Amino acid sequence: MLRAKIIATGSYVPKHVLTNFDLEKMVDTSDEWIRERSGIRERRIADEKEAASDLACEAAKAAFKRADIKPKDIELIIVATVTGDMPTPATACHLQHKLGIKKAAAFDVNAACSGFLYGLSIADSFIKSGAYKKILIVGAEVLSRVTDWEDRTTCVLFGDGAGAVILKATDEDRGIVSTHIRSNGALWELLNMPGGGSRNPASKESLKKKMHYLRMKGNETFKIAVRTLENLVARTLEENKLKPSQLSLLIPHQANLRIIQATAERLNIPMEKVFVNIDKYGNTSAASIPIALDEAVRQGRVRDGDYVLLEAFGGGLTWASVLIKW
Ligand code: ACO
Repeated sequence: MLRAKIIATGSYVPKHVLTNFDLEKMVDTSDEWIRERSGIRERRIADEKEAASDLACEAAKAAFKRADIKPKDIELIIVATVTGDMPTPATACHLQHKLGIKKAAAFDVNAACSGFLYGLSIADSFIKSGAYKKILIVGAEVLSRVTDWEDRTTCVLFGDGAGAVILKATDEDRGIVSTHIRSNGALWELLNMPGGGSRNPASKESLKKKMHYLRMKGNETFKIAVRTLENLVARTLEENKLKPSQLSLLIPHQANLRIIQATAERLNIPMEKVFVNIDKYGNTSAASIPIALDEAVRQGRVRDGDYVLLEAFGGGLTWASVLIKW
């Protein structure tokens, strides 16, 4: 049976660092509140000339440096983002152009913070079906452009960045073992950006009403996230007949350190086996898992034969997990 194996990872974050102390000067907040409630110390902010495809391109180039294939070998490009360069064409098409890839299909996936894992799941199906053998998947976000910098309940949480993986078909007993994707559209109002689409097109009024910024009911989302992620991870392990102790590393979406800790605790997974970098980058939505995976690989925390579990929860609501045998 064909399997999708991650043959290389890469990531990129913008140079500009915005600390909690910087935010203290912008809104009524404190470093202590942000650290205690979210675990974030600082985040990266894209340069005004940088759009999602620019970040995606840097992350992809870093991955190609570590891969035994070249951009021209790629047959499919998937970009997960909610902050693409423009509504159309897809950011994946812009990325294709920047990388000089001629013969490939390219499209975006919009599943908010779960987007990268949705992308991996789609790519895995294409590889298993035999349709494609070499796929580039990138999670890239410039959330700073859709953040209301006067709203302390959201502006302290988000950051910019991109992460990439290259998948190749293999018949080895390595690669993606199982993927689980789910959503509940009934809860869309908990996290949304209402302006700019066909429901509320851009207008003077939409600007005045701040409809082009992310809105989140954080506390309600938090409670649902913890419950949902516990069930999701437990089910993923159960369906693969694995015990939590057999996992070498859990790489969660980095939305809130307390969500990460609560999920790990409920599943009896010690924090030493959980990858955390939210302190440095905040919540980078679809980019958070591929950035974390790339850092985990480069820090030597993922070894041959390890079971690694990726999990995410975000706007939609959407949630997803991907189990990998490295
Ligand atoms: N600084 C100081 N005080 C603040 C700030 C701030 N930045 N933000 C809110 N507060 C205040 C509130 O006004 C409130 O005050 P009150 O009690 O007087 O009303 C108090 O702090 C507590 O607010 P809560 O919202 O209840 O705080 P909570 O502990 O829930 O933490 C947070 C807020 C960090 C947003 C948390 O709820 C969270 O992380 N939620 C989930 C996020 C998530 O997982 N989202 C999905 C993925 S994101 C995506 O898909 C793009």
